[in-house]
Amino acid sequence: MLKHTKIKPSYIEAKKRTNNKVKVLTDLYIMNNELKNIGINKKYVVITYGCQANERDSETISAILEDMSFVKTDNLEDADLILLNTCAIRENAHNKVFGMLGRIKHLKETKPNIITCLCGCMAQEEAVVNEIEEKFKWMDVVFGTHNIHNLPKLISDAINDNELIIEVFSKEGDVVENLPVKRENKYKAYVNIMYGCDKFCTYCIVPYTRGKQRSRKLEDIKCEIQKLIDNGYKEVTLLGQNVNAYGKDLENGVTFDKLLEEVAKMKIERIRFVTSHPWDFTDQMINIIKTYSNVMPYVHLPVQSGSDKILKLMGRRYTKESYLKLAKKIKDTIPNVSLTTDIIVGFPNETEEDFNETLDVVEKCKYDSAFTFIYSKRENTPASKMEDKVPLEVKQERLQKLNELVNKYALINNEKLVGTILPVLIEGESQKGNNLYAGYTDTMKLVNVKCNKEDIGKIINVKIIEAKTWSLNGEKVDE
Ligand code: 5AD
Ligand code: SF4
Repeated sequence: MLKHTKIKPSYIEAKKRTNNKVKVLTDLYIMNNELKNIGINKKYVVITYGCQANERDSETISAILEDMSFVKTDNLEDADLILLNTCAIRENAHNKVFGMLGRIKHLKETKPNIITCLCGCMAQEEAVVNEIEEKFKWMDVVFGTHNIHNLPKLISDAINDNELIIEVFSKEGDVVENLPVKRENKYKAYVNIMYGCDKFCTYCIVPYTRGKQRSRKLEDIKCEIQKLIDNGYKEVTLLGQNVNAYGKDLENGVTFDKLLEEVAKMKIERIRFVTSHPWDFTDQMINIIKTYSNVMPYVHLPVQSGSDKILKLMGRRYTKESYLKLAKKIKDTIPNVSLTTDIIVGFPNETEEDFNETLDVVEKCKYDSAFTFIYSKRENTPASKMEDKVPLEVKQERLQKLNELVNKYALINNEKLVGTILPVLIEGESQKGNNLYAGYTDTMKLVNVKCNKEDIGKIINVKIIEAKTWSLNGEKVDE
């Protein structure tokens, strides 16, 4: 029987940053005839939690599984292989995954040959892997964010070995190119421009789970986008944990504004990017968004808190005043820009005054929408060591108050659009039914549109007839 060496994550290693040069590795993905046959007559399910980085990783994982002849199913009961691509950002993401593992355990009891895999950010956590080893020994494979390319071999080993295979690297990470991808959407696509993060905000687990910041080469990014254009894609979203730090780790001096301009000159109709950090959001970036009509007037600019005291404790490296100045510059320079944000309430020892500063930022920025969260303690982060005396009920009240204010401005902003004509990329049928179709405006607002099936995949002009807090209703107008 084959014995696979267990490689487990380490909190100490995950924290390290060295000056080692990042390697671009182009030949790590190996697919041979033996591996290709493993999935014949077998079905797979991939369940994805978390952010767009995970969604994009799942597109690669699905493609790898299909290279191995597995066929996709949406039905867990039908699956011969179940893979959970997990998120570690907050406790509730964790809990959802452990809940799902409970369900899968029952399936495994009736169908012992199902291959069960867990990967993604939770796999990078020492405590999670220890828990899986203790309580979920029946699982087959745990692998991390740095070795997706190795999945065929891990599955092959799992089939030959009854033991739980663990292969999680805590190294800073390389850039792995030439992995396959099976895109979920035919019209818009995620394109990674960088991996990892070096900002180390004190509450955040990402720098540990995703490693050191590593930018992809400009040529490789452009090549991926060109292929998308050739395949009829209308929209790309450039992905990174902190996109405006793009290139800081490269030697050729390419910065994010240069990359954005290069992509804007390509024949792609819509370009978006997430996520930006207010700290290195430059005037050049603002000018490029303004200048190029295919760079969408939509900026997601996480503020996290409005209190200078809390921002300092979070290690965010900007003040309320400098954030407001930047937000104003963005709004004054880019016509009709939509501005969205992320906010955390209940960071350790956030006082009522601190929270009121956050509400004041929302009042001043009048965001189009915001993702709002209660602070969640993440093991081994600096914030987890901060004493916290604020009761959960207080945090919940703050969240509710904040959401009411965010919703108020979301609706006010949407109401201003009633009667205007906006470009909408129609993606498919609307969940509302009634022969409606759904798509997004250039400013990333969801619209349910009266139009035709033939409009799917096209950017059409839509007259907005009704505004809701989270969406708009509209009808197609002829050019
Ligand atoms: N607790 C709550 N929210 C968090 N985020 C990141 N880490 C935490 C945490 N420990 C939020 C931030 C970030 C978004 C992706 O998730 O607002 O911008
Ligand atoms: Fe994405 Fe962060 Fe969640 Fe990982 S922990 S999936 S990087 S949001």
